[in-house]
Amino acid sequence: MLIKKPGSSHIKEHEVTDESIYRGRRQILKSMGFVGASALLASPHSQAISWFGKDDDEVFVTSPLSFNSVDKYKSDEKLTPEAKVTTHNNFYEFGTGKSDPAAKAQGFKVDPWTLQIGGLVEKPLTLGYEDLTTRFPLEERIYRLRCVEAWSMVIPWIGFPLASILSEVKPLSSAKYVAFETLEDKEQMPGQRSRFVGGGVDYPYVEGLRLDEAAHPLTLMSVGLYGKTLPPQNGAPIRLVVPWKYGFKSIKSIVKITLTDREPPTSWNRLIPAEYGFYANVNPKVDHPRWSQARERRITTGGLLSRNRIETKMFNGYDEVAPLYKGMDLRRYY
Ligand code: MTE
Repeated sequence: MLIKKPGSSHIKEHEVTDESIYRGRRQILKSMGFVGASALLASPHSQAISWFGKDDDEVFVTSPLSFNSVDKYKSDEKLTPEAKVTTHNNFYEFGTGKSDPAAKAQGFKVDPWTLQIGGLVEKPLTLGYEDLTTRFPLEERIYRLRCVEAWSMVIPWIGFPLASILSEVKPLSSAKYVAFETLEDKEQMPGQRSRFVGGGVDYPYVEGLRLDEAAHPLTLMSVGLYGKTLPPQNGAPIRLVVPWKYGFKSIKSIVKITLTDREPPTSWNRLIPAEYGFYANVNPKVDHPRWSQARERRITTGGLLSRNRIETKMFNGYDEVAPLYKGMDLRRYY
């Protein structure tokens, strides 16, 4: 995964594929009859992508993935260009600036990797690096990701439903919640060494879902985006994507999943409980105490300062999750 940097000191944006090229290649494949509902695809990317970190002397290489294209998760929405998805990130373990993760995470080692799934389950499971992309069939799913900071992206993720893991480990009837934990490694993650660099978060970063939320078909364990394995700044080698919740629920670089009978602590709720609740469902009617959540800036090709503002939808537009919260006061359970 890691090779030494041959002297350059910047991420080369021309080395990452723009979404129009990505879609264009898929269109060509489609016209040749290769892309259909549930057709097994080789990645449209013929080559691995190299990342050159600004502040380290190593290169992270992502690899093409094979995946199913599922009609239900296609979208006509304009995709956020890959170059933006991979350079505008929140990953406080590598610093609080949006460009810090892409600049500082390129030496991150993801192989070997161990993901342990245990707690209140019949059959605990341990997955190694290779298992992450081979054990469960991979799908491409285009999801909107709405950050609590009121920007959003549209991203072609590759992954498998968390439900696939859950049905394998068989939760006990006492299991009510699922807790997630990011890698703790002070040597590799500068934000874990210093409260200043890491934004005051108490590491390891932790998150949680109710069991029915975790088992919902939309909840994705992602191992890639734009046809290739995840770059470190997006949470390599495996991260969660919960598209109807604010982005901070989508925890990155996961090493542990634990089924529990109690609501697990979550990093942002622990840090600022008045601003970040356990549920964190996208909700235009419940403002953040310091800003409105009624609208969002969709990051497309217009640059980060573009005025491309749109109305935020309840549950980020994923209405099928509404039954999970029937009868709940979502102002109280924010
Ligand atoms: N996971 C870890 N371990 N550390 C983080 O700082 N940031 C969260 C989430 N997962 C974060 C994390 C936040 S605030 C957001 S908005 C999303 O990751 C951003 O994901 P992206 O960079 O892939 O867009």
